[in-house]
Amino acid sequence: MRRALVTGGTTGIGAAICAALHAAGIRVAATYSGNEARGAAFSDRTGIPVFRWDVSDHAACAVGAAEVEAAIGPIDILVNNAGITRDASLLKMSEEAWKRVLAVDLDSCFNMAQAVVGGMKVRRWGRIVNIASINGQTGQFGQTNYAAAKAGMLGFTKALALEVARDGVTVNAVAPGYTDTDMVAAVSPEIIKTIIARIPVGRLAQPEEIARCVVFLVAEEAGFITGSTLSVNGGQAMI
Ligand code: CAA
Repeated sequence: MRRALVTGGTTGIGAAICAALHAAGIRVAATYSGNEARGAAFSDRTGIPVFRWDVSDHAACAVGAAEVEAAIGPIDILVNNAGITRDASLLKMSEEAWKRVLAVDLDSCFNMAQAVVGGMKVRRWGRIVNIASINGQTGQFGQTNYAAAKAGMLGFTKALALEVARDGVTVNAVAPGYTDTDMVAAVSPEIIKTIIARIPVGRLAQPEEIARCVVFLVAEEAGFITGSTLSVNGGQAMI
């Protein structure tokens, strides 16, 4: 049985990814950062063990990954899903908003990959899936920080894919479009209306529609797919 760790796995797209991997017969663990009550409720509801640490903290990721491995066994599959937004146009953006988004969304990929890739290489099998965003592919008004982090994840994906290709480890990205989660619900309804008007499918994605792509990419049969980005955006950007 393969084992997966999903960061930011107790809510939104992450929770859907946990559920889908679990349904596919994979043993799953999830991380969360802030909301202890939500983390505990998620674990009670799903039976999926949860672990709390800040994925922007390099040392905490090493310690946390070791704890997860002690609890469920070696991590075969890493899903870098944890992410935040701090939207503001450039001149209004605080340095803190820039640094925090880069740290949580992008540094976390380095931190977590470094904690698990060594073991994957030794076992000669691994899957890493980085959850990026359409806004890292196209840009988005008010998101210089988030777009930079998400575009950075795509470069990170390709570089790491090259480094571990010979070791049975694949590294891919999923780039969701606007998805029906708390993160998108935080954007003003008028702006969301204009965004949906530009989505050919005519609606937001459901988190399960993103999770399905992760299940596809971590399958045994997906060993020849590496360094790729799977865009899942209802046709909003055909890239
Ligand atoms: N394109 C061009 N001009 C725009 C614009 C756009 N998309 N949006 C706003 N403007 C214009 C306004 O009309 C206004 O013009 P005037 O000054 O002439 O009236 C001006 O820009 C406003 O600029 P401000 O710097 O004052 O912006 P603000 O403070 O009012 O709002 C914002 C900035 C909060 C970032 C707001 O634009 C916003 O919420 N944008 C949406 C951001 C977004 O889509 N975030 C996605 C979050 S979900 C997510 O990220 C998940 C995922 O992966 C998809």
